[in-house]
Amino acid sequence: MIRFTALATLSAVALTAASSAWAEPKAEVLHWWTSGGEAKSVAVLQQEFSANGGTWTDMPVAGGGGDAAMTALRARVLSGNAPAAVQLKGPAIQEWYEEGVLADISAVAEAEGWADVLPASIAGHMKCDGTWCAAPVNVHRVDWIWANADVLKANGIDMPTTWDEFNAAAEKLKAAGIIPLAHGGQAWQDATVFEAAALGILGAEGFHKAFVELDADTLTSDAMVKVFDQMRTLRGYVDDNFSGRDWNLATAMVMNGEAAFQIMGDWAKGEFLAAGKVPGQDFLCASTPGDGFLYNVDSFAMFDVGGADKEAGQQLLAKLIVGKNFQKVFNLNKGSIPARTDVALDEFDSCAHLSAQDMADSSANGSLLPSYAHGMALRGAQSGAITDVVTAHFNSDMSSEDAVKMLAQAVANSM
Ligand code: BGC
Repeated sequence: MIRFTALATLSAVALTAASSAWAEPKAEVLHWWTSGGEAKSVAVLQQEFSANGGTWTDMPVAGGGGDAAMTALRARVLSGNAPAAVQLKGPAIQEWYEEGVLADISAVAEAEGWADVLPASIAGHMKCDGTWCAAPVNVHRVDWIWANADVLKANGIDMPTTWDEFNAAAEKLKAAGIIPLAHGGQAWQDATVFEAAALGILGAEGFHKAFVELDADTLTSDAMVKVFDQMRTLRGYVDDNFSGRDWNLATAMVMNGEAAFQIMGDWAKGEFLAAGKVPGQDFLCASTPGDGFLYNVDSFAMFDVGGADKEAGQQLLAKLIVGKNFQKVFNLNKGSIPARTDVALDEFDSCAHLSAQDMADSSANGSLLPSYAHGMALRGAQSGAITDVVTAHFNSDMSSEDAVKMLAQAVANSM
């Protein structure tokens, strides 16, 4: 009896000690993954977090490209109530770090050996003054064309490999009463199409000069005039109701054969897959004309929120995000490829294989480039200035010559 009481007391003490050291992981997660394919993907993270004892508070902010989510984030931080984890990427990570509001997740990154499994180009985006300040989820490619396989076949069209071929195919489709290009008139979608056209027309070096170095000569070059010419041509291939349309509704137009093509990052593939469509059969993927690869890496940054439960939640989340199995399952749904280099791609489709191959090749030949339209290349002020001009041109009858002048001016003013 005495022995029993002593044992019971001992285990009660052990239990109390353990429970005060172990805080239940909690995280409020701000993201903009609200379309069909996106919601399926983020659910994978949510489930894995719960399965590991975490309590997830969802803060979805609808709006493709994340502009609305970033506005919501600013409001939350300014009111002193930042969410614990935020979908944040590219130089915006460093911008928030400079505000002194990000948590350091180096302990998790080092314990998990992130440096050994992430390509240096991706790891670079996740670091702030040498510390780890974000966790990468994937690599999305931006410069893709998606097509309805039946529509192309019925009209005797192959996937275009040059912009001239694209334009010829679009004219043919238009004459046949099919909308050539499914597009949503939102600034970030205009920018997405613009940077794909720019990569093809300027080439990888020209793209780097224009959208990474902000070189004034390249911004006002004849080649840049041609990029705006191509935008004007593309404007003639969208339907009358394009203004304000969400990107996933544009993808649906390609799925149901109302439109033939969409120029969009491979989150569009997530939509096709979520609707049960099969690549190579129902829909086709090809890189947009020209060499190079525009990458867009989704990542999460943790905000300094305090509280043992929230800190435990941030650490758990960071660990899971870069976890090998999560990177596979998440990206199978999302349309992207894993950020980790050691995830086997056997279960991935032909578009993902093409992406991985092109990423490796472009990395080797210097044409792997950060997407400006998806916040990987420039700080917000500069990318915003460029997008304003792109949108103003697309939605008016502004000449290409006036557009390049405006572009150079807007970039100069944003510095
Ligand atoms: C993000 C993707 C997202 C897409 C549409 C991109 O900027 O990187 O994850 O699916 O926007 O919302």
